Amino acid sequence: MNVTPITPPATIGMVGGGQLGRYALMAATAMGYRTLLLEPDPSAPAGQVASEHLVNAYDDAHALDRLGFDCDVVTVEFENPPADALDTLAAMAPVAPSPAAVRIAQDRIADKTFLREQGFPVGPFDVLDNARSEPAPSIVDGGAIVKTARLGYDGTGQRTVHSVAETLAAWADLGAVRCVVEQRLDLTAEISVLAARRADGKSVVWPATQNTHVDGILDLSVVPPTGVSLELVDRAEGLALAIADALAYVGVLGVEFFVVGDEIFVNELAPRPHNSGHWTIDAAATSQFEQQIRAVCGLGLGATGLRAGGAAMVNLLGDLWERGEPNWAVVLDDRRAKLHLYGKSEPRPGRKMGHLTVTADDPRVAAAAALALRDELTRR
Ligand SMILES: Nc1ncnc2c1ncn2[C@@H]1O[C@H](COP(=O)(O)OP(=O)(O)O)[C@@H](O)[C@H]1O
Ligand SMILES: [Mg+2]
Repeated sequence: MNVTPITPPATIGMVGGGQLGRYALMAATAMGYRTLLLEPDPSAPAGQVASEHLVNAYDDAHALDRLGFDCDVVTVEFENPPADALDTLAAMAPVAPSPAAVRIAQDRIADKTFLREQGFPVGPFDVLDNARSEPAPSIVDGGAIVKTARLGYDGTGQRTVHSVAETLAAWADLGAVRCVVEQRLDLTAEISVLAARRADGKSVVWPATQNTHVDGILDLSVVPPTGVSLELVDRAEGLALAIADALAYVGVLGVEFFVVGDEIFVNELAPRPHNSGHWTIDAAATSQFEQQIRAVCGLGLGATGLRAGGAAMVNLLGDLWERGEPNWAVVLDDRRAKLHLYGKSEPRPGRKMGHLTVTADDPRVAAAAALALRDELTRR
């Protein structure tokens, strides 16, 4: 397929106003595009950087008309815009990633079923979608996790179970909504791969990142991985590219993987830049956000190499504000570190307020320094 590139000063539409949208719109602005944001929260992080902010619901008909009429292309920064609203938009303007790809990634049942049908490796799971669904004992007996099909994030909407009876009780407790139940895997490591793909099929990946979660929330990302073989990393990068092809994907796609011994399973897809790719802002030749703009506009894709021996990113959650504003000077004074704050005024526990990235010759050194700097932020 031949695609005419969308070049500045064209208008890029964004559905969703969180930090991922903020960085994508900053990248677009730096390249000379105009940006139009649809986001109901007037104080959302992306609203502070958009050329124009439509403070409306994601399915507001008038706002969708504005976006469709004004924008040369529309993209998304989270998986949960109503897919029907994206269909409405797609009748008026190019939407990338496609509503079909977002529909798959926003629903764990659709996501896992698609991956399994396409022959990609996923862990054992069953679907719980009515009062008569009974999971296979082989999936739940050794420990399993019930997850709502929709709207879960950072470990919300999940329950740990150990039997069929507990699974059914957890399903009822989660509101008897559509769920999956996944065998709990004995994880050796978690890694993620960010891929970018253009409408004509040209695609690239960044080096895989190794991720550590705390209480279901990403805590630390390290690149290159220190606890995973090169062979597995290669396999993950190949799988991410193949999944992007299978979805005819346009934009940046995040793929989360579970490593179990010498096996690898796809955990979930994110139809957007990903928290584990934030290191690309400071330590890759091209950031995941600039690449999202490049991919959806059909421009040349930028180089994805890591510009040092290693990099590490730690999230800064609202918990850090418990005893007042953290001491940012410790990060700002460190030549290896970069500070990122998302402009959120309310620091709630568990809320992602920002992150910091350390670049070093060695990924282990970067990780240790990033964790130490975060500790120092709250030292009094
Ligand atoms: N089947 C599983 N086996 C082992 N750990 C899991 C499993 N599912 C989830 N986890 C852990 O919980 C984290 C969050 O789960 P995930 O399905 O990615 O939900 P979210 O959408 O909240 O990111 C994972 O990154 C992993 O650490
Ligand atoms: Mg996840």
